[in-house]
Amino acid sequence: MTEHQPVTNPVGNQSRSAGSTTPPEDEAVAMLGIVKRFGPVIANDNISFVANKGEVHALVGENGAGKSTLMSILAGLYRPDAGEVRIGGSPVHFKSPGDAIAAGIGMVYQNFMLVDSFTVAENVVLGLPAGGFGLRLDETEAKLVDYGNRYGLGIDPKATIWQLSVGEQQRVEIIRLLIRGATTLVFDEPTAVLTPQESADLIRTLRALAAEGFCVIFISHKLDEVAAVADRITVLRHGAVVDTVKASATNRRELARMMVGRELAGALLADAELDRRRIGDVALTVNDLSATSDKRLPALRSVSFEIRAGETLGIAGVAGNGQRELAEAITGLRTATSGTVCLGATDITNAHPRTIARSGVAHVPEDRLGTGLVGTLDLASNAILRTYRRNPIARGPLLMKRAVTRFTDRLLADYEVNPANHAARLRDLSGGNQQKLLIARELAGEPAAIVAVHPTRGVDVGASEAIHGVLRAQRTRGAATLLISEDLDELIALCDRIAVMYEGELMGTVTPQGADAETLGLMMAGTRLDAIQEAVCA
Ligand SMILES: Nc1ncnc2c1ncn2[C@@H]1O[C@H](COP(=O)(O)OP(=O)(O)OP(=O)(O)O)[C@@H](O)[C@H]1O
Ligand SMILES: [Mg+2]
Repeated sequence: MTEHQPVTNPVGNQSRSAGSTTPPEDEAVAMLGIVKRFGPVIANDNISFVANKGEVHALVGENGAGKSTLMSILAGLYRPDAGEVRIGGSPVHFKSPGDAIAAGIGMVYQNFMLVDSFTVAENVVLGLPAGGFGLRLDETEAKLVDYGNRYGLGIDPKATIWQLSVGEQQRVEIIRLLIRGATTLVFDEPTAVLTPQESADLIRTLRALAAEGFCVIFISHKLDEVAAVADRITVLRHGAVVDTVKASATNRRELARMMVGRELAGALLADAELDRRRIGDVALTVNDLSATSDKRLPALRSVSFEIRAGETLGIAGVAGNGQRELAEAITGLRTATSGTVCLGATDITNAHPRTIARSGVAHVPEDRLGTGLVGTLDLASNAILRTYRRNPIARGPLLMKRAVTRFTDRLLADYEVNPANHAARLRDLSGGNQQKLLIARELAGEPAAIVAVHPTRGVDVGASEAIHGVLRAQRTRGAATLLISEDLDELIALCDRIAVMYEGELMGTVTPQGADAETLGLMMAGTRLDAIQEAVCA
C-alpha cells in the first residue's frame, strides 16, 4: 500500500550477540563519536547516540547543549568534524540534505516548508519526481486519507495551506516526509508552536508511528511531554552525552538534574514573595480595543482590562484567538481599529512603536527573530536595539563603544546567555539563548508595563525558572505585566488574574486559585464564565 517498508520490530527484541561488531537489526540511526566545532565552540563533543526502529527517542538538554546541531548533522546540513553516522547499519557520508532524505531521514522543522497558496495535496506532491508515485492528485488525496486514519493525521486534502492551523500544517509536513519514504522522523521542538490539545494529538501520532516501526527522534524542553511519549531519553549537557535512560525508569526531577548538573530550586518560592508586593495604581488600561488580523478579518473584539503596578494579568487561550493581535495593538505594531490603550494617564493608542517603547512599555514578542532580534547582527548590536539613541549608549549621533560593550556584557552575564561574547552573531546562538537575550534587553530599562508573549517558549527548565524569576522581580519592582501564554502552569505560577481569550473576546477572568482546568478548558472553547457559573448554580 505504502512506499515505505519499515520493519515492525518492538524495542528490546534485539538479538545482539555480545562482542559482535555487526549493528543490531533494529538500529535505525547510530551516531558514533560525533564532534562538531564552530570556531572555538564545541557544539558536539564526542557524542554517541543510537535510536532504534519502533522507538520514540527523546533528546533533551539545556539551551545550547548541542541537540539541534546533532540533528543537523543527521539531516545532512552540517558535516561532522569527526565521528561516524550509520543508517540502518551502514555507514553514510551525507554531502547534502538531499542525501539524508534519500537515506530515509525526515526532519520536521519549526518553520514548515509549505507553499501557502497551494492545497494540502498539491504541497504533498510538490517536488516528487515526475512519473514517481503520488503524481496524480486524486491518488494523493486517497493516500492522505489513509495516513489520516492510521496515524491520526487527519486533514482535508483540498484545504489551502494558509487556512490551516499550525498543528494542521505540521501534519501536512509529516505526511510529506512519509510519502518521500522517511523511516526516521526527527522533530526539533515540535510542540513549541502547538496548543496543548494539538500537542496531545501529536504525541498520539508519534506513538502510532513508532508502533508501526518508524524511528522517531523527539526534542523538547517540556519534560512531562518527554515522559509521556518517549521510550528512551538521551540527555546532553555542554555538547556531551550525560546518559541514555529508559523513560519508565526516570522522572522529571531526575532528568532536570541530569540536564543542568544540579538540583533546581523549584518554582515554589513564588508565594513568599507575593506578600512583599505592593499593588499600585492602574498602570495599563485597555478599553474597548479592536483590531483586525493580517488577513483583515476581525481578530480583537472590544477587549477591556486594567492592570495595576505590581500586578500580572495572564491571557490564556488557544493560539490564534487574537492574543498576538492584542500584544501588537498595545505595543503599536498593529493599528487599533477602535478603542484606547493608556499607560498611566497617557493615551498611547496607535502611537509609533518606538514612542510606546520609550514611554515605558516593554515587549517580548512571539516571534523573536521576526520582531525582536536581528540574526545577522552581533549580540551587542542586538542588545542595544532598544536603547541606541540614549545616553550613555549614544551621545548625539555617536555610539559609545565602551558603554555598549559594558551594557551588553552585563546583560549577558545577568541572564546567563551562552556564549557570553558580545561579538558573537545572534544567529549562531541556540534558540533558548536568543530568547534570554531578548528578555534581558527588554527588561533592562525598568519598564512601567511589560507585554510578554510566550516568554519561555523553547527555553530549557533552568532558564525558564530564571525567566520566571525575572518576571517576578519585575512585578515586585512595580511593573504591570500582561503575560500571554499557552502554558497554564506558567500562568498559574505568575499571575494574579487569568483571563481567557476566544475568537478575539475575553470569556471571563479567574484567579489562579479559582482556575480549575475544566473551567479554563470550557472558556478556551468559547463558553463565557458567567454561563459556566450559571450552569453550576442551576
Ligand atoms: N552555525 C553556528 N555557528 C556558531 N555556533 C553555533 C552554530 N550553531 C550552533 N552553535 C553553537 O553550538 C552550541 C549548540 O547549539 P544548538 O543549537 O545545537 O543547541 P540546542 O541544544 O539545540 O539548544 P536550544 O535548546 O536552545 O535549541 C551553542 O553554543 C550554539 O551557540
Ligand atoms: Mg535547538
